[in-house]
Amino acid sequence: MVNYKDLGLVNTREMFAKAIKGGYAIPAFNFNNMEQLQAIIKAAADEKSPVILQVSKGARNYANPTLLRYMAQGAVAYAKELGWEHPQIVLHLDHGDSFELCKDCIDNGFSSVMIDGSHLPYEENVALTKKVVDYAHQYDVTVEGELGVLAGVEDEVSAEHHTYTDPEEVIDFATRTGCDSLAISIGTSHGAYKFTPEQCTRDPKTGKLVPPPLAFDVLDAVMKKLPGFPIVLHGSSSVPQEYVDEINEYGGKLPDAIGIPEEWLRKAAESAVCKINIDSDSRLAMTATVRKIFATKPGEFDPRKYLGPARDEMEKLYKHKIVNVLGSDGKAQ
Ligand code: G3H
Ligand code: 13P
Ligand code: ZN
Repeated sequence: MVNYKDLGLVNTREMFAKAIKGGYAIPAFNFNNMEQLQAIIKAAADEKSPVILQVSKGARNYANPTLLRYMAQGAVAYAKELGWEHPQIVLHLDHGDSFELCKDCIDNGFSSVMIDGSHLPYEENVALTKKVVDYAHQYDVTVEGELGVLAGVEDEVSAEHHTYTDPEEVIDFATRTGCDSLAISIGTSHGAYKFTPEQCTRDPKTGKLVPPPLAFDVLDAVMKKLPGFPIVLHGSSSVPQEYVDEINEYGGKLPDAIGIPEEWLRKAAESAVCKINIDSDSRLAMTATVRKIFATKPGEFDPRKYLGPARDEMEKLYKHKIVNVLGSDGKAQ
């Protein structure tokens, strides 16, 4: 058993409570490799922002679970080396799909896990989530559950169509499972294609496509049912047009990629939404940078010369999210 506290990590309990009170959200950035981890830690340390290092089942297999544990431990040491006196870093399993996977993560140094039973019939979701909570809480590991289904593919948990969270179910779910936070579905989805152009309208001033509104009424209803309970928003990448354009300019093909406008996320961060998940934007930043270098410097073959700039671009992106979208800067000295 590797306890996360021995790795210098923290769970989400206290940081979520502070975030709700303070009207900001904690960034949950997915990572798969060293450059993403370096960029996340550098951004969080420079901005003194609590941060959630988020790992999917696929990322865990990609990076190797043992190596990952040492990477997280190294991340804490690196943060301190950067002058961050009291790093608030969570290692979180994203979209856990079984009790066994959650247990394995808890046994190997994760401080927080998500059990995603959103695709299951309600009673089965309750039973599975409760089973994970009962195990996790023995080790003071926090648990995120999910109610309502996001559109698209959720890390091997597939759902053809989204179903908004039913506010009538949230009290029962939170009480019976004992989960520490709840991911809800209000119209966001994973990946770079969150909406089709046909679903959007065009802003006459900027010419930009504006997606259909998120179901903030559902969020409001959930908050009324569970005052002060930590809410999580998945699928919160904004898909910056400049990255999409750069990718397409340098040989990529991402037609009509559309994300969530940042001002909508800012509004969510001010509410009980205290964890905002971002993965795709970092993938876009990395891909755009690497594509540009490959196209403009065809003689370059030192990975540090293209992964280094990609890392710098991701750091810029993470800082922007922390300061301008989530408002978590300065919240962990
Ligand atoms: O929600 C899904 C995350 O973006 C992780 O994606 O399964 O490709 O690592 P992944
Ligand atoms: P994006 O694909 O919008 O970045 O969402 C990531 C996510 O929700 C991870 O769980
Ligand atoms: Zn997700």
